Amino acid sequence: MKSTRPKALVTRKIPEAGLALLRDKCDLDIYPEDRVIPRKLLLEKIPRVEGLLCLLSESIDEELLSRAENLKVVSNYAVGYDNIDVTAATRRGIVVTNTPGVLTEATADLTWALLLAAARRLGEGDRIMRQQKFEGWGPLYLLGQDITGKTLGILGAGRIGRAVVERSVGWKMNVLYFDNKLNSELELKYSAKKVNLDFLVSNADFISIHLPASRETHHLINERILKQMKKSAVLINTARGSLVDEKALVKALNEKWIAAAGLDVFENEPSVTEGLSRLENVVLAPHIGSATIQARDDMAKIAAANLRAVLEGKQPAYPVNPEVFS
Ligand code: DGY
Repeated sequence: MKSTRPKALVTRKIPEAGLALLRDKCDLDIYPEDRVIPRKLLLEKIPRVEGLLCLLSESIDEELLSRAENLKVVSNYAVGYDNIDVTAATRRGIVVTNTPGVLTEATADLTWALLLAAARRLGEGDRIMRQQKFEGWGPLYLLGQDITGKTLGILGAGRIGRAVVERSVGWKMNVLYFDNKLNSELELKYSAKKVNLDFLVSNADFISIHLPASRETHHLINERILKQMKKSAVLINTARGSLVDEKALVKALNEKWIAAAGLDVFENEPSVTEGLSRLENVVLAPHIGSATIQARDDMAKIAAANLRAVLEGKQPAYPVNPEVFS
């Protein structure tokens, strides 16, 4: 007998906590390999489905949406949704959803892990130990940057930026932030000051990026901005690679315009710009900001609930384009 349940495509296996919410409601097609679904296959499958649960590594663009004759919802398994042409989806009445909130703490923790590792040259130290090159303690050996009492500059004072600031209290840091909006909680609770980009980059010791990727934020950190930073500055990016001009960053790190960087995201993932991985003063992580068991389970539940709600004719908890409902 032909199923009357809506068809949904899940582009890669996500935690069972989420899939369990969909199994009894949809005819699920889960791409079985633990790798990115081939684009050709995605294009082939899309006309048949009403729901798509996808990853940030898939481009949900005009080409794909123009074939999505039956699609009602694109549920992104991520808080960022720069992989989706939201305007094109909205034009077609397709709801786009994301998973905010549940990965805030995990991402803020990883931001601090990178900040500490970059400031204290942990990557270099680890490589020295593994290569058995440690020749003993030395007064001038592997000196890094102090953190206590220094200035933390946050680009983007949303959920993750706020959680990063919250963690800075133990290090008694002064906080500057760059954002369109005033964040009164940051100002009152952490004495943070809202400043412009130029002021922030020339005065902060640690600069951490927490803005979404967009046309406006593309290469926000470029050669001009890197040249304004202190020589002792440490740059951290756990947001999106496109915010940093990676070629300019390689130059800045190589020529010591800044002291160090810690990166979890890259302009052309999974590729890394030529030269970056040869530098000692950068700590590289493979986009693992939200990679904790709890965060990924919670993301799966939210992504599944968002998808299911739309397929049941209800409003999802986290629509990115709520105007579709008006
Ligand atoms: C996101 O959710 O946008 C992160 O980059 C991955 O979890």
